[in-house]
Amino acid sequence: MLIKNNYNLQPLNSFNVPCIAKQFVECNNINDVFNILQAPWFLPNNFTVLGGGSNILLTKNIDGLVIKNNILGINLIKDNSNDVHLKVGAGEGWNNLVNYCVQHNYGGIENLSLIPGSVGAAPIQNIGAYGVELSAVIVEVEGVDVNTKKLTTINHKDCAFGYRDSIFKNTLKNKFIITSITIVLQKNPVVNVSYGDVAKRLQHIPSESITIKDVSAAIVAIRTEKLPNPKEYGNAGSFFKNIVVPTSIFTTLQAAFPLIPHFTSAVGIKIPTAWLIEQCGFKGLQVGQVGCYKNQPLVIVNYGGATGLEVYNFSTEIINAVHQKFKITLEREVNVF
Ligand code: EPU
Repeated sequence: MLIKNNYNLQPLNSFNVPCIAKQFVECNNINDVFNILQAPWFLPNNFTVLGGGSNILLTKNIDGLVIKNNILGINLIKDNSNDVHLKVGAGEGWNNLVNYCVQHNYGGIENLSLIPGSVGAAPIQNIGAYGVELSAVIVEVEGVDVNTKKLTTINHKDCAFGYRDSIFKNTLKNKFIITSITIVLQKNPVVNVSYGDVAKRLQHIPSESITIKDVSAAIVAIRTEKLPNPKEYGNAGSFFKNIVVPTSIFTTLQAAFPLIPHFTSAVGIKIPTAWLIEQCGFKGLQVGQVGCYKNQPLVIVNYGGATGLEVYNFSTEIINAVHQKFKITLEREVNVF
């Protein structure tokens, strides 16, 4: 296990902004994690785990240790008559896992096709798209507890999953290094085409004949059209969360803005942040090397050469503009360092 000093993180963050980590180390298996935690240079209050680097914004150099999680493996650990359990290393690419499941006709995560990032990062923000959240298939999450230095399993119910939220973002932040996740997938999958865009794209196929391969292909096509490819333009997907407000607040907003789009959810009325940003004139707007993507203003883009701080300041301008017009405070979805 080799510790490197002054390590360049620019190629390891999908925003592609410059950043130097004071120390950098990679772990390829659970033993590496134990060795790191026991090393004399390890400071429990000064480390960051990096997965795919696709949901972070680095606004300054990191004056501490960055641990890159490269633990691989997709293992079939249970094969029941109706479902399978896969235990997957945290360093696997999320989309590799989706493709593996689609090829084997294991249903459950096809709606999460083409989401960038690593498997280990997925439960932290409970990734979700097109009507499905990762929490629907998670059995448990395994990792090393930084305090006890023991391999620990967190069951689904203890993960405290919410919309783009989990215990790993809160109580266990910087206290737990995820090494694998176990997910349950269906052998006789029932497709979920509840999301309007997906249903529209598959309307040429009789609903009883739609396969998880069809759903995955449709979602790959939608995402490719709407979202910028991070290899082309630095970005971290949705920069902000969608807004959920109580009915009373929504009614007031609707009176002032009758065209406001909204969706009813279990926790309140969901308002698409993309619409709020668009109404403030940011859709497709570029300032310097930073801007809101032309097809999806929820995504902030580094058009080349921007710093993390410039991206951050641009996001603050959006927050201020939305607040001024709608009296709603947007919340960043991306982790800011
Ligand atoms: N909209 C606009 N203007 C636009 C684009 C969208 O007004 O330019 C409004 C429309 O009302 C549209 C609604 O926003 O109906 C929803 O748009 P979209 O289907 O593109 O989804 P989203 O709510 O903006 C969320 C997730 C995405 C996920 C999609 C699909 C969050 C923060 N984002 O975006 O997740 O792919 O739904 O399920 O929840 C990510 O987290 O990085 C991400 C890309």
